[in-house]
Amino acid sequence: METSGRVAVITGGASGIGRGMARAFADAGMKLMLADLDEAMLAQTIAELTGRGVEVAGQSCDVAQLDQVEALAAATLNRFGAVHVLCNNAGIGIPTPTANIRLDDWRWIIDVDLWGPIYGVKTFLPIMEEQGEGHINTTASLAGLIGGGFMGAYNVAKHGAVALMTTLERDLRGRKSPVRASVLCPGPINTDISRHSVTYRPSKATPRSNSTSEGKAGANVQAMLDKGMDPDEVGRLVLDGIQRDTFWLMTHPSFSKVLTRQLDALVADGSLTKA
Ligand SMILES: NC(=O)c1ccc[n+]([C@@H]2O[C@H](COP(=O)([O-])OP(=O)(O)OC[C@H]3O[C@@H](n4cnc5c(N)ncnc54)[C@H](O)[C@@H]3O)[C@@H](O)[C@H]2O)c1
Repeated sequence: METSGRVAVITGGASGIGRGMARAFADAGMKLMLADLDEAMLAQTIAELTGRGVEVAGQSCDVAQLDQVEALAAATLNRFGAVHVLCNNAGIGIPTPTANIRLDDWRWIIDVDLWGPIYGVKTFLPIMEEQGEGHINTTASLAGLIGGGFMGAYNVAKHGAVALMTTLERDLRGRKSPVRASVLCPGPINTDISRHSVTYRPSKATPRSNSTSEGKAGANVQAMLDKGMDPDEVGRLVLDGIQRDTFWLMTHPSFSKVLTRQLDALVADGSLTKA
């Protein structure tokens, strides 16, 4: 779709990949509504973009709360009179072996990483369809395609996010909707997601029997992300995908070999290969 002059809503837009999208979309002449839980980071990102002459507004929003997502849509229409692009990008994740994941962590991760995008689609799709134009992108993950170990709740939420978007795209095409859908499946990206997730985690104050192994796993994940792709590059990739109506947005296409091995093993003998 044409992006210049259009309005984009980006959840989790204050930092990391969301901020990378905001910078790329701003360079393409878009108007922006950034939503985030962290008001201080949000104010910083808005100040940076305003300083570059971008038309940008911000809204404090927890994507796990439907009423807050609805308020985000209302604030966007109130400010800009339209919404053409929604990026369901806000997300969190904690590495934990499946057997040890606390129920409140399961709920929190699925609430943010899966219910967040569901609320986004539910709220913004009718607005875009009535408008006659729109694109909804969700940030899933390679974890939405490959169920690696130690990330059970995150894998479940991200597989759900991929399924939400594949189904949505097929449904939209089936009824010739003017709205398009796409899904971003990043590999390792250099952001502070692990540190932010530890801050937001609802059960962080309670003692955990597996806290040492979790702490090590968290540090290992963050060390891997620190060497990951620049989030601004991901933002440019998403902009390009929206402009070209590309459904699958992959930051690390070489990882498709793992997917291929997984499918080959499924067909050959029903086994699960090492992710
Ligand atoms: N960094 C990676 O390697 C990587 C890889 C695959 C997928 N992802 C996904 O990319 C997305 C963005 O993550 P990131 O890596 O840029 O991390 P990040 O922590 O820099 O950005 C996430 C943003 O979401 C916000 N947020 C968290 N919970 C929220 C909530 N309930 N409501 C609203 N905002 C909330 C945070 O404040 C933060 O600004 C996430 O969905 C994540 O799962 C990241």
